[in-house]
Amino acid sequence: MTFQEKLLQRTKSINDILYACLPEETGNAKSLYEACNYSILAGGKRIRPMLVLETYQLFLPNSSDEQRVVLHAFLSAIEFIHTYSLVHDDLPAMDNDMLRRGKPTTHAAYGEAMGILAGDALLTYAFEIISSAIASIDLFDNKNYQPSSEKFMQAAVRAMALFSNKSGMYGMIKGQVIDMEYTETYSSTGSDNKYEDSSKKKIDLPVLLEMYENKTSALLEASMLSGAILGGATKDELSVVDRLSRKLGLAFQICDDILDVEGSEEKIGKPVHSDDKNKKNTYVVLAGIENAKKMAEALTNECLELLDQLPGEKSFLKELFMFLLKREY
Ligand code: IPE
Ligand code: IPE
Ligand code: MG
Ligand code: MG
Ligand code: MG
Repeated sequence: MTFQEKLLQRTKSINDILYACLPEETGNAKSLYEACNYSILAGGKRIRPMLVLETYQLFLPNSSDEQRVVLHAFLSAIEFIHTYSLVHDDLPAMDNDMLRRGKPTTHAAYGEAMGILAGDALLTYAFEIISSAIASIDLFDNKNYQPSSEKFMQAAVRAMALFSNKSGMYGMIKGQVIDMEYTETYSSTGSDNKYEDSSKKKIDLPVLLEMYENKTSALLEASMLSGAILGGATKDELSVVDRLSRKLGLAFQICDDILDVEGSEEKIGKPVHSDDKNKKNTYVVLAGIENAKKMAEALTNECLELLDQLPGEKSFLKELFMFLLKREY
């Protein structure tokens, strides 16, 4: 099988898992469920659930049905959290973009209020999915108590705590806030005069990297670390996964910035030159596009070296890292 075929196969099985937990579009809040489903069904590369799964399988290639229920909950939850972050990122108060995953953004299709509410709902639902998966295993196991399941459940609770941390004010949201704080066209005073806030601080490389480590690496860390925790990785292995996923996130965001400049709207499914429109501080702006490409490549090589320190069958992950570096979408 070629890498593209393997990628497609994995994306399909992730989509099957995701679609199984989408809400039914009925009742008086039908429009909310439609907006949530719209944002998920629009597509996306599904990289984060793929990283949960692939990292998990490095450590635990064979799982029981009960373990799989929890694993699948984490896969779905990370994609719901990521999609919510995109829905909110596109809002007029943030990047004000109208195209996402090749379709009008959620707020463009359903209105701004529904964009906010669909994002809120996706985020909350992510934790409902995880906690109920953990709880049903708990209830299920009351009769037939298995010590190994107890250990697995403890790992799942730990992974859920990590998910909350990486998604929240010490993770992804922190990164989005640093992004806004250093964006000239964003007004933190709430005034309508969004376009002339001269009080913005000039960004330097350490702050830019802190922004990227949070707005982007944090969810990749949540993905790979939760997979590793559920798979039973040791402390030393978790430390390798931690460093690897942080670097992978940096490379991923730098490539995203490059695609904003050099990519095609048709392929990336979102507007090109959005960063320029918003006068965003990006690695490309700070270091130039050639240095950005070199940096993304260097980071990817570091990821490959770190991956070599982990156990298990790594060939797909290696190809995935290279694909992410060379991607056109
Ligand atoms: C876009 O993420 C946002 C960034 C962190 C750069 P993806 O490029 O993974 O978006 P989808 O899920 O494929 O649409
Ligand atoms: C956003 O970064 C990362 C998120 C946390 C959503 P960008 O603003 O560059 O992402 P895109 O380019 O809109 O996907
Ligand atoms: Mg943004
Ligand atoms: Mg954006
Ligand atoms: Mg971008």
